[in-house]
This record gives sequence, C-alpha cells and structure tokens, in this order.
Amino acid sequence: MKILGIESSCDETAAAVVEDGTRVISSVVASQVEEHKLYGGVVPEIASRRHAEAIVPVVHQALEQAGTALADIDAIAVTYAPGLIGALLVGVNFAKGLSLSTGIPLVPTHHLRSHIASNYISNPDLKPPFLCLVVSGGHSHIVLVEDYTKMRIIGRTRDDAAGEAFDKAARTMGMPYPGGIELDKVAQNGNPLAFKLPRPVVHDAPYDFSFSGLKTAVINLIHNSEQKGIEINKPDVCASFRYAVVDCLVTNFLKAAEDYNIKRLVIAGGVSANSLLRSTLAEECKKRGYEFYMPEKKWCGDNAAMVGSQGYYEYLSGRVAGTDLNAYATMSIEV
Ligand code: KG4
Ligand code: ZN
Repeated sequence: MKILGIESSCDETAAAVVEDGTRVISSVVASQVEEHKLYGGVVPEIASRRHAEAIVPVVHQALEQAGTALADIDAIAVTYAPGLIGALLVGVNFAKGLSLSTGIPLVPTHHLRSHIASNYISNPDLKPPFLCLVVSGGHSHIVLVEDYTKMRIIGRTRDDAAGEAFDKAARTMGMPYPGGIELDKVAQNGNPLAFKLPRPVVHDAPYDFSFSGLKTAVINLIHNSEQKGIEINKPDVCASFRYAVVDCLVTNFLKAAEDYNIKRLVIAGGVSANSLLRSTLAEECKKRGYEFYMPEKKWCGDNAAMVGSQGYYEYLSGRVAGTDLNAYATMSIEV
C-alpha cells in the first residue's frame, strides 16, 4: 500500500511516498531554516507563506522521484496537529483539496506519532509495544506505545521542551538557530564535568521533566562571566549542559522502563539526533539487556516519510477524515 505523506507543521515543507509503513520510495524536504536563522527562531507568518509557495512543487517532486502517479496512491496522510496553526493549515488544506479532487482517502496524522514512526523506517523489525522517549523542539514526553495507534503519556515536561532548552542555551552563546545541532557538535570537544549544573526533578512525578531552571542556570553562567569580562570555555559549557539535559532524560526514561517493566526502548524527535543521548542510551540498554532502537539521523528531524509511515498504520486502524478536517496547534498524542 502506497501512502503520500505531507508535512508542514513547522519550518519544513515535506512530501514523501512510503510503502507499507516501512519502505521509503521518495522523500523531499524543503527547509526554510536559512530564512528563520535571520530572526533567531521560526517566524510563524513567514513559515506559512513559504509553505504555501513550496507545497505544490514539493509534492510534485515526491511523486516524480517515486515514479508514482497519483492514481497509484492509496491514501494521503497529512500532519494536522500539533504545530504552528498557519503552517499546519497549508498542508491540511492542500491535502483536503487533493483528496477531494482525486477521491483518494485522507488520513489525519499526529506529528509526534509520526516522529515515533520514523523508527519503523529505520528498524523494520520494530513492533509495539515499547516505551518511547519523544524529544523535539516543542515536546518532551515518555510515551507508552501499546500499539501503532494506541499511546499513553506517562511522563512529560512541565515547562520547556528539551530541544527548546538546547536552542536557548545555544542562542545565548551566539550560535545560529536551531542551536541544538551546533551545541551538540561543540560539546564533543568539551569537558562535561567542567561546570556543575542542576538536575531539576518534579516532586511526586518521577517521569516528568523540568528544563527551564537548567536553561536559566546555564544562561546565568554565561551572562555572569560576560559581565566579569571572563572568557568562558564554550566547549566546556556545551558539554556540561548537554550532559545535564541528557542525564535528566535518561534517568527518568530508564526509571519508567524499570517501573513499567518494559525492555524495549525507543527514541524519536529532533533531539533524538543528539549524539550523547544516543550513545548513553545504547550503552545503558546494553548493560540492562534491553532492546534499543533509534531512527537514523536523517529521519530524526521533520520529514514526510515518517508521516507516510504513521499514516499507513492510522489508515489500517480506520482513521479517515472528510473535507471538514481542521488543523490544531495543540493535541495530545493519545487522541
Ligand atoms: O522534531 P524537530 O525537528 O521539530 C519539532 O517537531 O520541534 O526538533 C527540532 C529540535 C530543535 O530544537 C533542534 O535544536 C533539536 O531538535 N536538535 C538537536 C539536535 N538535532 C536537532 N538537539 C540536540 N542535539 C542535536 N544533535
Ligand atoms: Zn517534529
């Protein structure tokens, strides 16, 4: 079964053709990141406009690269939540029009569920149930994936997402948006024990995260040394901060796995590209005899192949929408 996936929830316009949830036949991503860099973050109005310009050529390219005619597409899966509302609406309205004019079924797909599905592409043997750490620019969740379309959140951030914390820390050090990637690179040459940073915990909620205090601590560290005219060792700050964030993520994730007695662990979302998170979890899972899966780096960030993958499972579960489909800025992964 061939699914056309369409993604426009943030700053990437993407389309892909995916077969049976795991085989990517084509994948096209038009990134707007260079333009948003000028402003230090995503400007929603610009994002919507660029999606509107890119959506037609991107879908065309995805079909062309797949050597697939629209007539051979079995369903159109589109990201309808969560994300920037104006950006989501471009993809949703385009997909609705395409579905209406061709009669191809329309499948609404949740962005974070799609991030999880990127793992089915990279690891075709992977099957639920498993425990997934979903870490992106907007979300940090520990999700119990009971089945492809049945999920339960057992831990979440109370304030900033991990990606957001990485980006803000990086921005304070003058790194371009999105700084998480750059911070990860610079951290490779630093000492993770150079600066002592807090490991915030949420009282009575052992699987929840809180990154805002940690973010403020690193920003204060940088500002204080600037005020004193002391040049701070950037690689050491990056390494110490990365270690602190990864430590919080890994500690809660492993505790949840132990308490829920789940021995198959998975990571997903933009931050799952973080090299320390990947290596630490691979090591810890090996020690404990757990199975561990992660997406290939090319599928960690926003793309439409993951939408085509999750869309396949949503379609099989009977999720099909009509032309009254709307986009939603927020929506739980459980719905
Ligand atoms: O999933 P994603 O592409 O978009 C959202 O759905 O939010 O995640 C983007 C986030 C950004 O905050 C970016 O800095 C972060 O993922 N990110 C990283 C790395 N690569 C991307 N954070 C830390 N280390 C990385 N290597
Ligand atoms: Zn994303």
